[in-house]
Amino acid sequence: MHKLVTWPSEGLTRVPHSVYADPAIYEQEQIRIFRGRSWNFVGLLAEVPRPGDFVRAYVGETPVIVARESESQVNVLVNRCPHKGVQLCQEWAGHTKTFACPYHQWSFDLNGSLRGLPFRRGVDGAGGFSAEFDCGSHGLDRLHVTTHNGAIFASFSADTPDFARYLGPANLMYFERVFDGRPLRVLGKMRHRVATNWKTLVENFKDPYHATLLHVFFATFGIWRAGQRTEVRIDESGGSSTLVQQSPVVLQKARADEIRSDIADQMKVFRQDFLSLAEPSILKVLREFPEDEDTVTMQTLWPNCAVHQNLNSLGVRLALPRGPHMIEIHWTFFGYETDTPEMTERRLLHANFFGPAGLVTGDDIEIWQLNQRGVATTPSGVARLEAGGSGTEDADFVITETAVRAFYKHYRKIMEL
Ligand SMILES: [Fe+2]
Repeated sequence: MHKLVTWPSEGLTRVPHSVYADPAIYEQEQIRIFRGRSWNFVGLLAEVPRPGDFVRAYVGETPVIVARESESQVNVLVNRCPHKGVQLCQEWAGHTKTFACPYHQWSFDLNGSLRGLPFRRGVDGAGGFSAEFDCGSHGLDRLHVTTHNGAIFASFSADTPDFARYLGPANLMYFERVFDGRPLRVLGKMRHRVATNWKTLVENFKDPYHATLLHVFFATFGIWRAGQRTEVRIDESGGSSTLVQQSPVVLQKARADEIRSDIADQMKVFRQDFLSLAEPSILKVLREFPEDEDTVTMQTLWPNCAVHQNLNSLGVRLALPRGPHMIEIHWTFFGYETDTPEMTERRLLHANFFGPAGLVTGDDIEIWQLNQRGVATTPSGVARLEAGGSGTEDADFVITETAVRAFYKHYRKIMEL
């Protein structure tokens, strides 16, 4: 293979714009990352509680069906008929015994085996399939599956490391803080498209530097503060990481107006008098995870998944690639089966920060699209990632891009760039 890109000599403090725009790089990402040794989040066990339940999902670009075959068995099947390649299942969720292709009605059971095809012996003894045609060798492709405390992951590769090793100890601890083994309850889903590259989202999830500068909502109402206790925890490979913030207002250690003046010192455009909440109760937080004070965590799982705990909102989001310049974002919001009605109300209210019209993610969506316009039109340019030094180690401060550099350390290894 010819060299797709020459990485700048500065190393991880530079990212060539072409990695966000070059179709040849995009194609290699599909092969090496999404169809390679990665665990891809495809849903929650709570979405398929009974045998016969299924949901539709994606691994990178590949459409899949997550189907519960039995109490103990969940299968992830490629949603593509082996006959002609048609996407079989169009419903996002349902309950069934078989999936039938709409084209020629080949039908498959919950583990993907071909169970029947009409006119197998032809009509009146003419046509049809020969006696040698073996249903057993024409099933749906199946992915490797692992589950961890209610979350389901799929991989095209048989030798993806086991999930705990894949995340690394620090990230596993934060993953298990949210997915602690209690049965989950799905609260809702959102899906929308954004005209940007999938890595732009992953970088954004790993970037605490922008949180108080872009997200005026966070800054105004004291959910993030630049000087507040922050941790960035990165796994050994660099691919997965967690940002942890202790929110001063949530912990009632500062008043929102004190934080506002702290931000206003640094931001010329920030108007302290500009924003107020008509309904301040949205910021009311019920404390959970009682043993610690980490009120906001954002975890990114290699390659394109993020788990958030933000105030009382818990959720998973995926940045699914749809060509170099487009993504589909899938959000799943959840709580625990044991939640009180009051807690469920908080979780639903705090989901308003997220999604296509989120009070916080609305800002990000605008930026991701502007980001793509810049990089796609100057493929020879480079991004400069020098906040917090040039390394890829853990950090205890906000103004750092260490987790983004670490992501590219892993990315370059997998992509051989
Ligand atoms: Fe953001």
